Amino acid sequence: MNSSRGSRCLLAASIFCLTVSPTFSQVIPSFRDPSVSLDTRVKDLLTRLTTEEKLGLIHGASKFSTAGVPRLGIGPLWMSDGPHGVREEIGPDTWNAAGRTDDFSTAMPVGICLASTWDPDLAAADGRTIGQEALWRGKNIMLGPGVNIMRTPLNGRNFEYMGEDPYLAGQMAVGFIQGQQGEGVASCVKHFAGNNQEIQRNSIDVQMDDRTLYEIYLPAFKAAVQQGHVLSLMGAYNKFRGTYCCENSLLLNSILKKDWGFQGLVMSDWGGAHSTDGSVRGGLDLEMGTEGPYGKNYLAGPFGAGIAAGTYSIDQLDEKVSRVLRVLIATHGVDVKPAGSYNTRQHQMTARKVAEDGSVLLKNDRATLPLNTAKIHSVAIIGSNANQKFASGGMSSGIKAFYEVPILEGLTRELGDKVTVTYAAGYRIPRRMRRGQPSPAPVVDHDLIRQAVAAARASEFAIIVAGLNHDYDTEGSDRPNMKLPAGEDELIAAVAAVNKHTVVVMVSGSPVEMGAWIGKVPAVLQTWYGGAESGNAVARLLTGAANPSGKLPCTFPKRLEDTPTSHFKSYPGANGVEHYEEGLKVGYRWYDDQKLEPEFPFGFGLSYTTFAYSNLDVTGYQEHGFAAHVQFDVANTGKIDGAEVVQVYVSAKGSSVWRPVQELKGFKKVLLARGQTASVSLLLDFSAFAYYDSASQMWVSEKGEYEIRVGSSSRDIRLQKSINVPQTLRYHD
Ligand code: BGC
Repeated sequence: MNSSRGSRCLLAASIFCLTVSPTFSQVIPSFRDPSVSLDTRVKDLLTRLTTEEKLGLIHGASKFSTAGVPRLGIGPLWMSDGPHGVREEIGPDTWNAAGRTDDFSTAMPVGICLASTWDPDLAAADGRTIGQEALWRGKNIMLGPGVNIMRTPLNGRNFEYMGEDPYLAGQMAVGFIQGQQGEGVASCVKHFAGNNQEIQRNSIDVQMDDRTLYEIYLPAFKAAVQQGHVLSLMGAYNKFRGTYCCENSLLLNSILKKDWGFQGLVMSDWGGAHSTDGSVRGGLDLEMGTEGPYGKNYLAGPFGAGIAAGTYSIDQLDEKVSRVLRVLIATHGVDVKPAGSYNTRQHQMTARKVAEDGSVLLKNDRATLPLNTAKIHSVAIIGSNANQKFASGGMSSGIKAFYEVPILEGLTRELGDKVTVTYAAGYRIPRRMRRGQPSPAPVVDHDLIRQAVAAARASEFAIIVAGLNHDYDTEGSDRPNMKLPAGEDELIAAVAAVNKHTVVVMVSGSPVEMGAWIGKVPAVLQTWYGGAESGNAVARLLTGAANPSGKLPCTFPKRLEDTPTSHFKSYPGANGVEHYEEGLKVGYRWYDDQKLEPEFPFGFGLSYTTFAYSNLDVTGYQEHGFAAHVQFDVANTGKIDGAEVVQVYVSAKGSSVWRPVQELKGFKKVLLARGQTASVSLLLDFSAFAYYDSASQMWVSEKGEYEIRVGSSSRDIRLQKSINVPQTLRYHD
């Protein structure tokens, strides 16, 4: 990194010298000239490279960089994890921390918290923040966002991703990418495709039908490519239909590059390339993470030897190099990078806003929340998660945080001097060995529970901060079950029995079973892992300084047995193969179909105010095939300002094929002052009505009746109106 910064400085100096020369326009090579098109710059630079130099650009030269072209003063392409901030420096050739003091970053809330905001503009601000810090740290590509669909609540990486719905995940990713790339840093959407579990992630062969692939597992990636114009994409570790994803010509060449017109580069997940031939022909452009020596990587020496022997062509090499150059040039790899910034007040406030807007108020009986700090004298804060920091956990998405405010600290500060706070740990989450090791049996520590109960009994309010940690929500392994792991069920029930003002704050990256106590506590706030400002955000939400507006991006099932993968026994696969038997019935599509009552449905989340919906109008247009204009009013009918996420679901009536009961096709987060009414309008284009027809390999917007459902969650539809699509429309991806 030092050397790259050094070479950039030299470069800056030489450009400066050239600009004072009258012959500047004649000597500046096109590839360095920002006024010419990106295509021209790429072509120009390509012609200047030797085969050796080209090969150096398409495989790793350290854990997170390529070789660069020193002869032309071009530094390496620098990559870094990840979706929640810029990861600490390692290596260069080991995973051990480099032990630097300048590699901290602002801890942004995790991906599922961002998704829970349902606010693509806020996702853009999140992306901008990480982009700024990436510039400061000299990075070209940030390895995120992750958009793999939550197929089972047990996937260890659900916390990094954007939930169970392809449309929501896609729109949130688009916002994030646009924000980040607007700073001159490339995003890398990952992991393409079908990487929906960590168990056997390096080898599992994922099998699903085309319709499921196109309707559930691809759309978020497609949105990232076509709407977000993402500059890079990471192939997944797993196999898809027998071939590793990083060498999978169907996914990479046919769908991504040909059908979707992706112009950027495809990199492997770290160690996800398995052969020279598969990588060359399968559509991989940049091989990362293969064990050294790097010169022997599949796309290094062996590819070069294959070119010399005539097995591969220079065109095949040039295609890959051109894609890498496109990203290198677009991210200031051949000119001077903007300086960037780090840990600014604005970054901190963006982190807090995401944590606040992404927290979901799941229950609030008898208006238990917000706490009235003017009237309360004593609060027991219970739970070891109240006094922990999480930002460094989860493996590749963890970061070395400048700071992280634990919930205990944030709450104690917010409650002020007038409220007596008593803290009790209540439980201790047992250490878990990662990567496939079984979890230890839940340990119920009765002494800790006794102390917590005593504190709760002596206080007016009890706030239990429960949940998981990154031994459970982590890359590399899945959870063994959906239960809280540390006797927390017993703790919550015991505390609720002595204090009727018991509030549960849930810190977890995925749903947990709540059946043992949900009927016994009046209030629950799901906060995920809230990053740097987590404690302040939770404190502001609990005291009403901020009004909750998050909505669940995934269903919270009552129990694991209710989930589709449990029903179909289709997870985690057998004999190395996994058939996605549940097909399209993922998330709410499954619970709706089965008429199963979840603990909390997709799209659900309460506010301290109330909203009323009225005056739905749906108008169809014949232009560009077919489109529907959806318009309605939403009013804040409560006493305080608040934001509502209005959701539009489409339900096909009388289709010739099986269709999900309803599918999310539009949403908007609307901020309303108390008493204010806003008119909301959304456009549904023909794709909102389409299903994928595997036989013809086309999307079909079938003529017929569709119900447009407008609501506050997938199970709280407030307005509905039918519309007729007058004729069938078929189209290719
Ligand atoms: C993860 C990726 C990550 C990469 C580099 C892999 O193990 O799956 O998400 O970007 O490592 O750290």
